[in-house]
Amino acid sequence: MKQLSTLREMERFITPLTENGTSIGFVPTMGALHEGHLSLIRRAKAENQLTLCSVFVNPIQFNNPEDLAKYPRTLSTDAKMLEKVGCDVLFSPGAEELYPQGTTESLELDWGMLDKVMEGKFRPGHFKGVAIVVKKLFSITHPTRAYFGKKDYQQLAVIRRMVEQLRLPVTIIPCDTVREPDGLAMSSRNLRLTIAERQVAPVIYEVLCQVREKAGKIPVKDLREWAIRKIQEHPSIRVEYFEIGDKETLIPLENWSLKSRAVAFIAAFLGDVRLIDNLELF
Ligand code: PAF
Repeated sequence: MKQLSTLREMERFITPLTENGTSIGFVPTMGALHEGHLSLIRRAKAENQLTLCSVFVNPIQFNNPEDLAKYPRTLSTDAKMLEKVGCDVLFSPGAEELYPQGTTESLELDWGMLDKVMEGKFRPGHFKGVAIVVKKLFSITHPTRAYFGKKDYQQLAVIRRMVEQLRLPVTIIPCDTVREPDGLAMSSRNLRLTIAERQVAPVIYEVLCQVREKAGKIPVKDLREWAIRKIQEHPSIRVEYFEIGDKETLIPLENWSLKSRAVAFIAAFLGDVRLIDNLELF
């Protein structure tokens, strides 16, 4: 596997490939890789001639400096994992490469409600930071296809909107959430759960599955309240939000008239670890 860390190296490497039409599958990450990321790499490998993964902990998408400081940085383990699954290139730039002029850039697009509900509401500025770095990474790596997990459903919606509005020449491939055997969605943050918190965490997915069973049978508002109550039966979990929203606009649904578009979304704290998950309901 080739390891590159500067824009200049990447440009030298990628230009001949884009000129000869090599298909490039790109998986952007912030490292601390787990099976969820590796499944994206495997899919990119199956669908492209070259697979490229980036590892960059993007400072401008953290609205909480403590969260940025605590984010696990495990580049050498990440590199070994990528090598093992046959990733061709690892790009791990430093912040000075991506933000040579500092981090004051902005990107004005029409996000509709995408950056205002759920994650957008509780993590102001987060999606702008994600969109800015993903746009930069796309312009550096020239991917044919880019792979994003549905675990970050709202992020996926934001990136699709950006690609559509800026007419970026890349196909976004949404990939199913990879779960632990007990249902907990894989996430780099799971590493920070205590043993006791890890035991309770699967309740998030259990309740999402129960919500899917009840969907359409009781009013949306009642189901939402039921889900919050059910999760909070566990004193160690604090629900930040639980919403049932439209799969594209993410606007909360008031009834089941567009039920085929309904997705349930949750963010919850176990101790100081914030987990998110979601489930398409129909
Ligand atoms: O999902 C992530 O890991 C990050 O938000 C991404 C897409 C790599 C941008 O920093």
